[in-house]
Amino acid sequence: MKHIAVAVDGPAGAGKSSVSKAVAKDLGYTYIDTGAMYRCVALFAIDNGIDIQTDRAALINRLDEIKIALKNENNAQRVYLNDKDVSERIRRADVSVGASDVAVIPEVRARLVEMQREMAKTDNVIMDGRDICAYVLPDAQVKIFLTASVDARAKRRYDEMRGGGIECDFEKIKAEIEYRDKNDSSRAVSPLKKADDAVLLDTTELDFGQVTEKMKELIRNVL
Ligand code: DC
Repeated sequence: MKHIAVAVDGPAGAGKSSVSKAVAKDLGYTYIDTGAMYRCVALFAIDNGIDIQTDRAALINRLDEIKIALKNENNAQRVYLNDKDVSERIRRADVSVGASDVAVIPEVRARLVEMQREMAKTDNVIMDGRDICAYVLPDAQVKIFLTASVDARAKRRYDEMRGGGIECDFEKIKAEIEYRDKNDSSRAVSPLKKADDAVLLDTTELDFGQVTEKMKELIRNVL
């Protein structure tokens, strides 16, 4: 049987991971969060005192030391960096910005893309990121570009953080999203952009249930 691959791209805060995770769970597919992998590389740099902006060579030289594992434990995805559970730490704001910064480094991308393709070989997968449709899984049967207005994305992040009891500032969150949009869309290697053959799904006016339903419908159409 041929494996099904669902590729989901889109900007920060569009809801890619929560929607992909929910649909993967419903369909029994494996969810692969490629953003978490870039976040692990950024966390490794921060923990090892490597300045991503000024000392790319130091990070490139140590890429072999970075071991990343995405595991499903009790129905929750956990992220391991060198055998340590970093699932919460990689969500920090400095790691978000660092992830966007390490993602412009071609050597980092090459290494992570190789791992991502390997992961998609054995299971039905839903993989989300920025370059999945056009580059990582060009043969995916379903390709989706999930987006929403900057304000809607910032508001969702804000509500999510407040809901989790984290103090935050709406304007700061919006500025961070805008910084990452610009960085992710303007880099030379695999910039964020809708692939020609991806379906555009704008979620600004849709709720979570409507988006997951729409994604499942797109998947059902190719089964
Ligand atoms: O999806 P996320 O916010 O967790 O991703 C963190 C950063 O990693 C994002 O700003 C851009 C980068 N990224 C990327 O360049 N390519 C991917 N496939 C996934 C993430």
